[in-house]
Amino acid sequence: MAEYCESNNSTFFCGQRGILASRAGSKPALPSCSLHRVEAAPDHSRGGSSPYRATGGMEFSGVVLEAGADVSTVKKGDRVIGVSNFHSMAEQCITDQKTLWRIPENVSLQDAAVLPVSYGTAILAVDHRARIQPGETVLVTAAAGATGLAVIDVATNVFCAKVIAAAGSDEKCKLAMQRGAQSGVNYSQGSLKDAVKKLVGSSGVNVAIDMVGGDVFLDSLRSLAWEGRIVVLGFAGGNIASVPSNLLLLKNISAMGLYWGRYQHQDFAVFSKSMSTALQYCQQGLIHPHTGAVFKLEKVNDAFLHVMQRKSTGKVLLSLK
Ligand SMILES: NC(=O)c1ccc[n+]([C@@H]2O[C@H](COP(=O)([O-])OP(=O)(O)OC[C@H]3O[C@@H](n4cnc5c(N)ncnc54)[C@H](OP(=O)(O)O)[C@@H]3O)[C@@H](O)[C@H]2O)c1
Repeated sequence: MAEYCESNNSTFFCGQRGILASRAGSKPALPSCSLHRVEAAPDHSRGGSSPYRATGGMEFSGVVLEAGADVSTVKKGDRVIGVSNFHSMAEQCITDQKTLWRIPENVSLQDAAVLPVSYGTAILAVDHRARIQPGETVLVTAAAGATGLAVIDVATNVFCAKVIAAAGSDEKCKLAMQRGAQSGVNYSQGSLKDAVKKLVGSSGVNVAIDMVGGDVFLDSLRSLAWEGRIVVLGFAGGNIASVPSNLLLLKNISAMGLYWGRYQHQDFAVFSKSMSTALQYCQQGLIHPHTGAVFKLEKVNDAFLHVMQRKSTGKVLLSLK
């Protein structure tokens, strides 16, 4: 789920060691921020036994109120997107200049709020990990979610791939197709593998990008072509499947994971490039971020319910206006 904060009163300002970002006050600004779905594997090191699911504000857009003396990348009045590790659902925040990226003039604050997590992840999944080539066939699961629609957008409109969207309802499949997928499969109605086979034949798809896990992951893996690649992004369905390694061997398949947020600490250049590339694609009109719903900040619980009840499509934003 995503939170979006929009306000005429938004402010950001930078302190000595970073940027103080604020989304309340009296300055004319239109900030927006975003929540993001997270599932974690059981933490056996702490005796955990079951996966948990949570959402929290990890991203935002807004306007810089003030910059500290040693801040060089942004200045007062700049429109920026940023990531802040679960602290985005506040009217104001302080953040380091390294976690902010300037928004180009022709990109709205609302569109920009959709970009960081979903498009950062989509770009790294499609390009950095799967290395999708023009004309390749890509199966995307949870396709009408925030990340799914971003993957479809990037894969079709930037990398010229053909996407099969897999989702849990006909309406979600329809939306994914309106957003660029060539075909849709409702995996609540039967075997995903059989449906994909009907669409592409026994040769299979070149790439699968899975966010659901469990049987949907296994069906995606079994739908891959010779030298196919599968990228694991998440476990929205709550089950973490084991990989049958014989399948990897038989078709020379590569199975890989992507944890976008981890790049912020492990390889900041890659992380930062995913953000600047998303902004650049948006500026060039190559991608079109999709906001599924906007809730007022005081309706934050309704926003969470909307996502947790699996009703959301695209990004759900919280507005501070
Ligand atoms: N690895 C990374 O760096 C990274 C980055 C971003 C997101 N993710 C992961 O990607 C997944 C999607 O994230 P998102 O932000 O796109 O979330 P989202 O917008 O809330 O979409 C999640 C989708 O998961 C599907 N889903 C399948 N089984 C579900 C279940 N039992 N309960 C709830 N939803 C279920 C739903 O689609 P259907 O109803 O169509 O099945 C839903 O639309 C999450 O697992 C998230 O943690 C990972």
